[in-house]
This record gives sequence, structure tokens and C-alpha cells, in this order.
Amino acid sequence: GDVAVLVPAAGAGLRLGPGGPKALRLLAGEPLLVHAVRRVAASPSVRLIVVAAPAAEVEAVRSLLAPVAPVTVVAGGAERQESVSRALAVVPPEIGIVLVHDAARALTPPAVIEAVAAAVREGCPAVIPVLPVVDTIKEVTPDETVLGTVDRSVLRSVQTPQGFRHSVLADAHAAAADPLTDDAGLVEKAGLPVTCVPGSELALKITRPLDLILAEALLQLPG
Ligand code: CTP
Ligand code: MG
Repeated sequence: GDVAVLVPAAGAGLRLGPGGPKALRLLAGEPLLVHAVRRVAASPSVRLIVVAAPAAEVEAVRSLLAPVAPVTVVAGGAERQESVSRALAVVPPEIGIVLVHDAARALTPPAVIEAVAAAVREGCPAVIPVLPVVDTIKEVTPDETVLGTVDRSVLRSVQTPQGFRHSVLADAHAAAADPLTDDAGLVEKAGLPVTCVPGSELALKITRPLDLILAEALLQLPG
């Protein structure tokens, strides 16, 4: 393997409702983070996994993941970007490709992880998995009057893992001013091309209670 995967997992999970850090919430009896790390570890390209855990849960996360896969656990920060930076800081320079993968996308198939890594390996500096946008999208004024309908065919929903040449992600984070929710956004600001590859419906971000219900159902699918 020539790939390090950073797994930001330090968020509170406020939109999921009461119940503790989202990465540790249960899906079919196991924490979301266990589902996510198991799929990352099943990807043949992966040499190193670095998890950014809630600061109060670092030891608990180490114990939780020890039977799942060899992982390095660091304390995350107050913003996602800070969690990613702290995880990136422990990746040795000889690892050429770095992926950033939200623990909240717990059911992302290894095939998506491999496809993102392969595109970086083939020379793309930054790669994101995407899906077409399904809803009609309107642009509105602050008082909720429609200004117009956006051409959906040129829009994409973005998932993780997002993949980068190690130096590209390191430079982007070093240059970052205000926090973004998306690492590729930092690379765009630096003026580098970001390449899209097909994502997966299984890579949905578990955000609201409905998503947990959907994820439980998806786990029952054959194959
Ligand atoms: N994350 C992180 N550190 C933070 C905030 C978020 O590592 N300070 C991680 C989350 O654990 C999650 C991913 O970034 O795996 C995407 O964030 P999101 O889905 O927003 O998760 P939360 O921030 O936990 O949820 P919410 O915004 O509803 O509180
Ligand atoms: Mg959040």
C-alpha cells in the first residue's frame, strides 16, 4: 500500500440528536467508526490509517479499534479542518497519497476508496467522489423569493474519501485561512485541478436520524 487514510471522527453529531459523539453511535450494534475503519482497512492500497477522535475519547477509540485494524489515533480539534490537520501531521513523508474520509460515511465501499487512490496514483493532484444532484435546485433571495433554477446537469454532490498527493494536501492545509468543510475546497483555492470520480449511494453521510435508519437498511442488502 502507498496510501494513508485520515479519518476525521471528532465531531459531536449534533444533528443526529442527543447521544454522544457521532462516530461512537451504534449502527447495527457497532459504532459508526468501526464500520468505517473496517472498510478502509479492507482496501488493498491502504498502508496507514489515522483516526482523529474526540479529545476525551482517544484511549477509548484506541481500544475500540485495536481488534478491527492497526490504526494511529490522535485527538481531533474543534473544527473538522483542525482534526484533519492533526491527523495529517503524523503521516510520514514517504507516503505519497493521502485520503481524507469522514467516519460519518461509515458504509463507503472499499471500491470507492480504491478508485480515488488510483486516480491520484495516475497523476491527479486531487480527486473527489461525486454523485449527480437529484433534486431541482433553486437560487433564492434572503426573503425566500426564487431568483431562478440552477442547471442541475453541471452540479455534483461531493462525498469522501477525497484523495490528494501528500504535498498538495499539506500545502493546502498550511495555506488555509478560514475553515472549510471540504478539503478539496482548499486545493481549489490554490488553483489546482480537482478531478471527479463516481461515488456511491452507500457513501451517504450519516447526519440526521433518518440517515441512521437508511444505513441500517442498506446494511441488510445482499453483497
Ligand atoms: N469532524 C471532526 N472534527 C470536528 C468536526 C467534525 O473530526 N471538529 C468529523 C466528524 O466526526 C465527521 C466528519 O468530520 O466524521 C464530518 O462532519 P459532520 O458530518 O458534520 O459530523 P459532526 O460534526 O459530528 O456532526 P454535526 O455537524 O451534526 O455536529
Ligand atoms: Mg459538523
